[in-house]
Amino acid sequence: MSETIPVPENTGNRPPEKTVLRTGSRSESPVTGIANGEPMVVARNLVKQFGKLYAVNKLSMTINAGETFGLIGPNGSGKTTLIRMLVGLIRPASGTIQIMGKRIPSARISLYLGYMTQLSALYLDLTARENMQFFCNIYGLRGREQRQRISEMLERVALADRANDVVGTFSGGMRQRLSLACALVHHPRLAVLDEPTVGVDPELRRSFWDYFAQLNQEGVTIIVSTHHLDEASRCTRLGLMRNGALLAQDAPQELLHQSGKDNMEDAFLHFARQQELPLRPPERS
Ligand SMILES: Nc1ncnc2c1ncn2[C@@H]1O[C@H](COP(=O)(O)OP(=O)(O)O)[C@@H](O)[C@H]1O
Ligand SMILES: [Mg+2]
Repeated sequence: MSETIPVPENTGNRPPEKTVLRTGSRSESPVTGIANGEPMVVARNLVKQFGKLYAVNKLSMTINAGETFGLIGPNGSGKTTLIRMLVGLIRPASGTIQIMGKRIPSARISLYLGYMTQLSALYLDLTARENMQFFCNIYGLRGREQRQRISEMLERVALADRANDVVGTFSGGMRQRLSLACALVHHPRLAVLDEPTVGVDPELRRSFWDYFAQLNQEGVTIIVSTHHLDEASRCTRLGLMRNGALLAQDAPQELLHQSGKDNMEDAFLHFARQQELPLRPPERS
C-alpha cells in the first residue's frame, strides 16, 4: 500500500496549525494529510486470545479522521486489549491494523499517536514537570519547544502551580490530569485514551470531555474508551463492545434510532440481546 501521509523528515512533533476542522468536511487536514471523514484507522478481523479466552474476537472497524470514536462496554469486554493492539503494544493473533495507511506496528506512526493507558504510567517519585520531560524526551521534543509545551499542557490541565511537586503527593484526579497532559504533549494526530475518566469526579469528567471536544476541533482524531454510558453522547460515533466483539457501531443518535430506545443503556442491552439470539433455529437431529 502506498503511503498516504506526507511525513516531515525529522519529526512528528511540530504543533499542528490552528486550523479548525469540522466533521464531515472534505477539506484536507494539514495535520495528517488525510481529509476529514476519510479512514484514519482500519482494523480487519482482529483476534487476540489469552489461553482459551477470546479477549477480542474477529473485530473489524474503521475510524475516520476528525471523529471522536467512543469504545463503550463493560469491564472485561476487550476495550483495553483492542486499544493495545491499535497502538502496536500487542500483536493480534490474526487480523490487520492500518493507521494513516501504514501497517501497525510502525515506529514512524507511533510519533503521531498519543496513548493514555488505563493504569497510570507516571513515575510517582518524580515531579509533574519531570514526568512530562520524560515523555517529551521519548518523542524528541527538546529545548525551548519542550519547555513551552510543558508549560502549556500543565496550564491546560490546571496543574501549573503543582509543576514541581512529586506525583506521589497527587490525588487520583490530579494524576489522571497529568497522564492526559503526558499523552498529548507531543501534539498527536490520533489520541487513544483508555478510560481517561475512570475514578474521576463528575466535574472533572465534564472538563475532560470539554477538552476532548476542543482537541477534536483542533484536528485531533480521538478514540476514547469508557464504561460510562452517559459519555456516549459526546462522541461522534460509538462502538458498543461486548465479549471481544462490536455489537454495533454508529452515531449515538443512529444507535438509539436502530434500537428504538431513548437511552444508550437500553440500546446497549437491545444490541446485546440481539447478539445472543441464535442466527438460525438449532438443527434437528
Ligand atoms: N494479559 C492478560 N492475560 C490474561 N487475560 C487477559 C489479559 N489481558 C486481558 N485479559 C482478559 O481479557 C478480557 C478483556 O480484558 P480487557 O481488554 O482488559 O477488557 P476491558 O478493557 O474492556 O475491561 C478479560 O476477560 C481479561 O481478564
Ligand atoms: Mg480496560
